[in-house]
Amino acid sequence: MSLLAITGGTVVDQLGRRTIDLAVDRATGQVVQAPSGPAADWADRVLDATGCHVVPGFVDLHVHLRQPGNEAAETIESGSRAAARGGFTAIVAMPNTTPCMDSAAVVSEVLAYGKSALCEIKPSAAITIGRDGEALSPMGELADLGVRMFTDDGTGLQDAMLMRRALEYAGSLVVDDGQPIVLSQHCEVTALSQGGVMHEGTVSSRLGLGGQPAEAEELMVARDIALARLTGVRVHMQHLSTAGSVALVRAAKAEGHPVTAEACPHHFALTDEACASYDPVFKVHPPLRTADDVAAIKAGLADGTIDAIATDHAPHTPDSKELPFDQAPPGMLGLETAYALANTELDLEPEALVELLSTTPARIAGVAERHGGPIEPGRQANLAVADPEATWTVDRSAMASNSVNTPFHGREVRGRIRHTVFNGEPVVIDGEAQR
Ligand code: DOR
Repeated sequence: MSLLAITGGTVVDQLGRRTIDLAVDRATGQVVQAPSGPAADWADRVLDATGCHVVPGFVDLHVHLRQPGNEAAETIESGSRAAARGGFTAIVAMPNTTPCMDSAAVVSEVLAYGKSALCEIKPSAAITIGRDGEALSPMGELADLGVRMFTDDGTGLQDAMLMRRALEYAGSLVVDDGQPIVLSQHCEVTALSQGGVMHEGTVSSRLGLGGQPAEAEELMVARDIALARLTGVRVHMQHLSTAGSVALVRAAKAEGHPVTAEACPHHFALTDEACASYDPVFKVHPPLRTADDVAAIKAGLADGTIDAIATDHAPHTPDSKELPFDQAPPGMLGLETAYALANTELDLEPEALVELLSTTPARIAGVAERHGGPIEPGRQANLAVADPEATWTVDRSAMASNSVNTPFHGREVRGRIRHTVFNGEPVVIDGEAQR
């Protein structure tokens, strides 16, 4: 048996913390009982995890891969390489590609490209045809291909009746793997946010830039909580960014309504003050908010109101991001900095980080059989080896992504992915992607 060893680290997952060496059968890609004696005697490859946490590979519920349609910004391969370098072993691809992922043909194309990726590519699909908010996509047919998350991300579904119908449709679908179907919402009432390019508040007034009020997000969060209550079907709230949204979700959960939520690193690591540079690298939807909102997002992550950290990795080519602030597209890179930012900015135990970055998103994405731990014999070896003490400076020229639009360039962070193992194969060793 050809064995991979991961030695000297502390395993951290839902079973707790333990200092053990791990063995992975490279033929099956599964964790196996480590033979006794030094790893050098039984392994044909040893990954050093000294000083590191060995954790279930991260699962990102929110990634823009740009293929098909804008491969200069990102391809499935380059995005998966960025993901692997960030410790992710599964990512959910958003459907706002060109053409849109609203048909079996396009979803099949993404699945085919995903076969050779450095992590599992789980395609989501649009709720409505063309993400136009007018007619439902063939959700049943798409679910048969393995789609478990539907979203019009990039825009929210404005029509409350159509959202109700989508929830009822999703709730009626029966899928062979028994995994849940989830409708994932970009919460933004465009009638209110229209014309806004950053958060509406004192900073936008000072800068003379159009604002998007917090209420544009909160109204749709409130509406979808009501629709989840009405239909009994779960809604997942994407990239929560305001204190009001966190409070609404907290109250909905306390009342037992079927909602889950994610938050992005940029919404707990940056505020709207960053826009004072007029640098479009800080333009994102929903926009960077105030320090009070940042504090509320952190509190929501700490108390379980927010279930997952998702990156909303949104690559854009330099040409497009170099436009003036009000004309540049919104979005920022996230995959390669997510762990470091979470580890640096959140005052959470490593077990809590594993839950937010891996275990819970794996469940929401419907990939918990293969991802999200626990790390034990018989489980697929989808693992990250993270050094929580390593400090480094984010460098946009050192990214695996095809794009460079990280708002964290030059920022010193703590926590770095040393190795990533995907289906038993070391796809990142000492921070370097292996293919
Ligand atoms: O900032 C964003 N960029 N927010 C979105 O919802 C879409 C994304 C993109 O596709 O660039």
